[in-house]
Amino acid sequence: MNYLNMLTQLGISSAHPGGYSSTLKLLDSISLKPGCSILEVGCGTGRTACLLAQKGYQVTAIDLSSEMIDKALHRNKMQQLNITFQVGDIKAIPFADNQFDVVLIESVTNFVNAKLAVSEYYRVLKPRGTLYDREMICLKPLTPDNLDDLLSFLGITQLFSAEEWLAVLRSQQFTNIRLSDVKLMDERADNDEHNFPDEYHLVSEGAYSNALLWQTSLQYSEIINRNKGSLGSAVMVGEKPQSFS
Ligand SMILES: C[S@@+](CC[C@H](N)C(=O)[O-])C[C@H]1O[C@@H](n2cnc3c(N)ncnc32)[C@H](O)[C@@H]1O
Repeated sequence: MNYLNMLTQLGISSAHPGGYSSTLKLLDSISLKPGCSILEVGCGTGRTACLLAQKGYQVTAIDLSSEMIDKALHRNKMQQLNITFQVGDIKAIPFADNQFDVVLIESVTNFVNAKLAVSEYYRVLKPRGTLYDREMICLKPLTPDNLDDLLSFLGITQLFSAEEWLAVLRSQQFTNIRLSDVKLMDERADNDEHNFPDEYHLVSEGAYSNALLWQTSLQYSEIINRNKGSLGSAVMVGEKPQSFS
C-alpha cells in the first residue's frame, strides 16, 4: 500500500503540511480578486476547492486519481457547489495556455518532476497570474538512510531545500518569487482535525478494516517524527509577468 493510496482509501482531506488551518491562514494572508479563476492541481478530496468556491471564486480542480475526483464530486454535490472537477495529470495539465488568475497547489509537486510541473503551472496562468504552491521542504540535510526511507516511502525522487525550490521557480520566467509560511513540519497540524473536522467522511468501503492502510499510516508518522528537525514546509509564490516570451 503506497502513501497516496492510503490517503485515497481513507479519504483524508487537507493532506498537506499544516492541514486545513494552513489553508485558511494562506487565504487570509493574500488578497485575491473577487470572482477570479483558480485552478487547484492535485485537489485530493476537494476540501480546499470547495472552500474557494464558497468564497465566490471560479474554481476548476484536477487530480490524477479518479477515486479522489469521485470523492471531490461527492463533496461538491453535498455542498451544492458548481466546481469543475476532472481527472488530469499535473505533468500535462488539460487546459489551454493563459487560462487562470491563480494556480494553487497543496503538497503535490513533490510527487512529480517539479520542473515539468512548474512549467505547466506557468503555461496555464494568465499574465499577472500568481502561483501558490505549499510543499514539504528540506530544512536540514537528512542522513542518507533517512532520506532514502522517506523518498521511497513517499514514492518521490527529490526533497528540495527552500533555495532549490526557488531555483525551480526561477527556471521558468516567474517574477516576484518568494517563500512564505516557512516552518518545521508537524505530522498533522496541532489540533487541526479537532478544530476543523471534515464533515464528510469520504472513506472507501472496507478501508477501516484494511490492516495495510493502518500500517502505512503508522509508517508515515514514524518517518516524519524521525526527521522532525530536518523537515519543513513552505509556500512558494511566483507571478507570471505581464509580457512574456
Ligand atoms: C498529498 S496529496 C494532497 C491532496 C490535496 N492537495 C490535499 O491537500 O488534501 C497529493 C495528491 O496529488 C495527487 N497527484 C499525485 N500525482 C499527481 C499527478 N501527476 N497529477 C495530478 N495529481 C496528482 C494525488 O492523487 C493526491 O490527491
